[in-house]
Amino acid sequence: MPQHPSVDLSPFPPGFRWSAATAAFQVEGSRAADGRGRSIWDEFVATPGAVRDGATADPGPDSYRRHREDVELLAALGVDRYRFSISWVRVQPEPGGPVRQAGLDYYRRLADDLLAAGVTPFATLYHWDLPSVLEERGGWLTRDTALRFGEYAEIVAQSLGDRIRHWYTLNEPVSTSLQGYAVGTLAPGRQLLFGALPTVHHQLLAHGLAVRTLRASGAEEVGIVNNHTLVLPASQADADLTAAAVYDVLHNRVFADPVLTGAYPDLEAFGIPPMPVEEGDLELISAPGDFYGINFYNPTTVAAGPDDSPVPFAIVPTPGAPVTGFGSEWPIVPAALTGLLLDFRERYGDRLPPLVIGENGASFPEPDHVDGPVRDSDRISYLAGHIDAVGAAAADGVDVREYTVWSLLDNFEWADGWTQRFGLVHVDFDTSARTPKASFDWYRALIAEARA
Ligand code: NOJ
Repeated sequence: MPQHPSVDLSPFPPGFRWSAATAAFQVEGSRAADGRGRSIWDEFVATPGAVRDGATADPGPDSYRRHREDVELLAALGVDRYRFSISWVRVQPEPGGPVRQAGLDYYRRLADDLLAAGVTPFATLYHWDLPSVLEERGGWLTRDTALRFGEYAEIVAQSLGDRIRHWYTLNEPVSTSLQGYAVGTLAPGRQLLFGALPTVHHQLLAHGLAVRTLRASGAEEVGIVNNHTLVLPASQADADLTAAAVYDVLHNRVFADPVLTGAYPDLEAFGIPPMPVEEGDLELISAPGDFYGINFYNPTTVAAGPDDSPVPFAIVPTPGAPVTGFGSEWPIVPAALTGLLLDFRERYGDRLPPLVIGENGASFPEPDHVDGPVRDSDRISYLAGHIDAVGAAAADGVDVREYTVWSLLDNFEWADGWTQRFGLVHVDFDTSARTPKASFDWYRALIAEARA
């Protein structure tokens, strides 16, 4: 009897890729090793009250020292690719300054071990850990950060481009802009509201510069990965519909439209200030990608704010939806992923490159210490439901080529510290010991069946 009766694998084309993901700051630990510099997350974890329980991300899974265990797990799982990120401050502690060979060597060893295990390395250049020195100079609010990022991309491409040939440029610029700079729940903890908008454009510019550099160095596949959500109006009242449209622009369209169409949506129509675009920027940003990456977790139900204002809007619980460990902030609605993928095809048509699901997964309350596999049936049904949702979009003709579970390992969930476990593998954060959960075996069986 198949171990995953609820997944219909028939819509997935041959060659569809099954993957798993992590990110540097969330799994590496060893923050002081080999001359690593400081990033905005080192500052954020040192800020009283910023991170749950004062967690510091160290040691956690300590993949910097234990990456071979991760590679063995990935090989046992049978994934096609491993999505991990490169820490800018391990490679170049001070942008504009010297390169730290020991940092590059770590990623070289990781890539080599993956390749030897038959797993393709799929690296993200930037997963939220901006060098502190750049933040002191204005961070993503300044254009200069994008230019420095272009230099960092060049260093990495020169040094690792012979073994890493598949790249994500930036992870979820929306989270950096909205949570990092607009409301301050993620590093660097700024609360600038619409004042955060230049960070959107500068991150997209950084993406465009990195694409140019990686392409020139012979990369096989390069693209951005963003977090997208299906926006649901709380009611059909005009005020809620307008608030939902504004939220869709701010969360989805300002990030996807310039990359996929070469233009920002009409911001003025929504009362949103303009972007600091300079000549040539949009051509660079919209240079065709080899894929477009989508991280999907949940839909977002949006209502108008006080006095029916579209801004500030209110994010409200999604009626009737079960929830993850985050409570009503993270409703579980797999069909929303099908809806989102169909909307993308509808909105961007022929301009849409093949899609890659760069992250999907869920946290649920699980014990800190275990002596056997966690029976994480909630996670299995979340993953099964969302894989089916991708399959439904594929059956409808959406060209989607890869699905990636967030995450291989339990890890540092940003402002929530160690309290939200997303892994297929349990990690004891006192000892860094890894214990595969039931979902690990389930995903392994699914991959094996998909290939059979
Ligand atoms: C998206 C982010 O890319 C990742 O770092 C985070 O842990 C997951 N979402 C879960 O919140």
